Amino acid sequence: MTDRLRFKGGVAVITGAASGIGTGLAHKALSLGMRVVLADIQEKALKDFAATLKGEVVTVATDVSDAASVEALAEKAYAAFGEVDLLFNNAGVMATGFSWEIEPARWDRSIGVNFYGVLHGIRSFVPRFLKAGRPAHIVNTSSVGGFLASPMMAPYSVTKYAVVALTESLRGELEMLKAPVGISLLAPGPVDSGIFNDPFGSNVRPEVQQFVDYLRKLLTEHGLSPDEFAELVFAGIKDGAFWIIPQPHAFDDGFRKRVDDILARRNPTTHQY
Ligand SMILES: NC(=O)c1ccc[n+]([C@@H]2O[C@H](COP(=O)([O-])OP(=O)(O)OC[C@H]3O[C@@H](n4cnc5c(N)ncnc54)[C@H](O)[C@@H]3O)[C@@H](O)[C@H]2O)c1
Repeated sequence: MTDRLRFKGGVAVITGAASGIGTGLAHKALSLGMRVVLADIQEKALKDFAATLKGEVVTVATDVSDAASVEALAEKAYAAFGEVDLLFNNAGVMATGFSWEIEPARWDRSIGVNFYGVLHGIRSFVPRFLKAGRPAHIVNTSSVGGFLASPMMAPYSVTKYAVVALTESLRGELEMLKAPVGISLLAPGPVDSGIFNDPFGSNVRPEVQQFVDYLRKLLTEHGLSPDEFAELVFAGIKDGAFWIIPQPHAFDDGFRKRVDDILARRNPTTHQY
C-alpha cells in the first residue's frame, strides 16, 4: 500500500511544525516535491519558519489538544489543497518532576497535547482518508520513552505509552477494513530540538534539575539534527514500516532488558542520573 503513496505532488500535514523534528519533516517533504500544511500553537514561530521555506506552504495556527482546532486544521488543509496524503501527529510537550508534585495543569497539558493531540488528528483525518479511498499514511509520534518509562517524567511516559497502544489498535482496525491507509509508530531517540525548553513547573528540585541537565546534554551532544532524523523517518515510511525506531542504540538494549525482566518476573532497575 505504501508503494503507491504519493510523495511528489502529494500533501503532508505536520503538527508541531514550528520547531525541532517538525521542521525537519517539513524540509524533507518539500524536498520531495510535496505541498505542506504546517500546524503549531506558536503562531509567530510557525510563520517565521514558513517564511524560510521554498514551495507550496500553508500555515494553520492549531492547538492539537482542542478537537475543534484540529478539525479546523483538516478543513483548512483540504480547502487549500483538496487532498492529504501524509499526516504527521508530531506535536508534543515535556513535563518533568516527581509524579506527585507535578501540578494537575501540567498533567492535563501533557495528556492534552501528547495523547489527545494524536487522537484528535486521527478523528479528523481518518474519516477523510477513508472517504477519499486512496493511499494515505499516518505517522504517530511516540518516543523511546513510550516503551521505557522513566522516573521524573511520568506525564511524558504515560502519554507516549498511550500513543503506542492507540497506534497499534488503529493499525489493526485499518487492516480489518482493508483500508488503503498505512500507519507508523515513530519512536525517536535523542534529537536536538526545543523539547526541553520548558519542562518545569513551579517547583524545581535539584534532582529534577540534574535529570533535565542530563537529558539536555544528551540531546545537544548526541542527538541527531531534525533534518538527519527526518531522512530516517521518510525512509521508514517508504519501506512501509509500522515500527519506525530509527536510533536502535537508544532503544534495543533497554527494550530487550525490559522484556526479559518482565518475562523472568525480575524487578526493574532504575538508571542513575
Ligand atoms: N527531541 C527528542 O529527542 C524527542 C525524543 C522522543 C520523542 N520526541 C517527540 O517528537 C515530537 C516533536 O518534538 P521535538 O523534539 O521536535 O520538540 P519541540 O519542542 O522542538 O517541537 C514541538 C512543537 O510542538 C508544538 N506544540 C506544543 N504544544 C502544541 C499544541 N497544543 N498544539 C500544537 N502544537 C504544539 C510546539 O510549539 C513545538 O513547536 C514530540 O512528540 C516529542 O515528544 C522528541
